[in-house]
Amino acid sequence: MHIAVLAGDGIGQEIMVECLRVLEALSLPDLKLEHADVGGVAYHKHGHPLPPETLALVHSADAVLFGAVGDPACDNLDRHLRPEQAVLGLRKEMHTFANLRPAKAFAGLEGLSALKPEVAGAIDLLILRELTGDIYFGDKGRRTTDAGLREGYDIMSYDENEISRIAHVAFKSAQGRRKKLCSVDKANVLQTSVLWREVVNEVAADYPDVELSHMYVDNASMQLVRNPGQFDVMLTGNIFGDILSDQASMCVGSIGLLASASLGEGTKGLYEPIHGSAPDIAGQGIANPSAMILSAAMMLRHSFGMEAEALRIETAVAEVLQAGVLGHDLGGKASTTEIGDAVVARLSAS
Ligand code: NAI
Ligand code: MG
Repeated sequence: MHIAVLAGDGIGQEIMVECLRVLEALSLPDLKLEHADVGGVAYHKHGHPLPPETLALVHSADAVLFGAVGDPACDNLDRHLRPEQAVLGLRKEMHTFANLRPAKAFAGLEGLSALKPEVAGAIDLLILRELTGDIYFGDKGRRTTDAGLREGYDIMSYDENEISRIAHVAFKSAQGRRKKLCSVDKANVLQTSVLWREVVNEVAADYPDVELSHMYVDNASMQLVRNPGQFDVMLTGNIFGDILSDQASMCVGSIGLLASASLGEGTKGLYEPIHGSAPDIAGQGIANPSAMILSAAMMLRHSFGMEAEALRIETAVAEVLQAGVLGHDLGGKASTTEIGDAVVARLSAS
């Protein structure tokens, strides 16, 4: 198991330390961790947020563990040199098109969600967001209208292959869960969505055991807050998924709890917490490492087929939270290291 470790900036460094301690506590055979710079750290050392030596490591590794990037000292740099470009560059280089963001209620934390405890307690869903198409990657620019007005434009487009490959991932994910898939679009208005719905319905023929439904994105956004327990897997395009997944994460309780995986055709993946480098708390030792640790669990599951080990980590994190070892994001006092200690201790006891 050759893993590229890209801790990045701010709290990325702090949470990665705990994540690696947890991985090491599993005593996995042939675990090889290799570090490289990414983000602002890489810019300061090598003049680029995603330098060639980091890319070479990413290409040779079996999976990538990514902390976070973002450095206020880089705010005035040209766009292509900003730390955040490293995330987009990595996704592109690794051809990852499927972003998996699970959101699940943790026992004992229901009262910390922005939703009513009984509503929050029922959350157990997976958002599957398409990563390479949509309005983010279509033709875009600025022009002047005939009337002399400044105009900006971004073209939304999807081809059928882009839709069907993510739809297959979504149906397969649903098969491994509660076998319900809700595809989210805006087919009452958008042509991309009409095609999206058509292709998803065609792919559904291969998965007769999965119950498929379609929902307009505005309704989906409302339903996520009203009754998130109704969802199992939600399949969406890039922009709707971007927004809905942030919304879903806050329904659970804290941004410090949610992990993600970005996957392509093979088993190689990019695993990272959904949060950023949190410069406001960096260096204080109070970041919650749970999202990073849970990202490592997703890596074991998706890149290495190690379901039992993934579950051991997820159970340990859930037990630590339930025991009341809470970071400052959840109103507690536990430090980054204390949370890591507690997860390692649970693993050793299990
Ligand atoms: P952020 O996610 O870094 O922080 C938002 C808020 O949540 C902050 O108050 C922070 O203290 C808190 N927070 C985040 N993670 C936490 C954790 N593990 N434990 C405790 N509290 C936590 O988002 P923000 O502030 O908008 O962005 C900061 C920098 O991170 C920016 O440069 C941004 O571009 C970058 N960013 C990078 C991402 C990535 O590397 N994938 C994703 C999102 C933002
Ligand atoms: Mg986002």
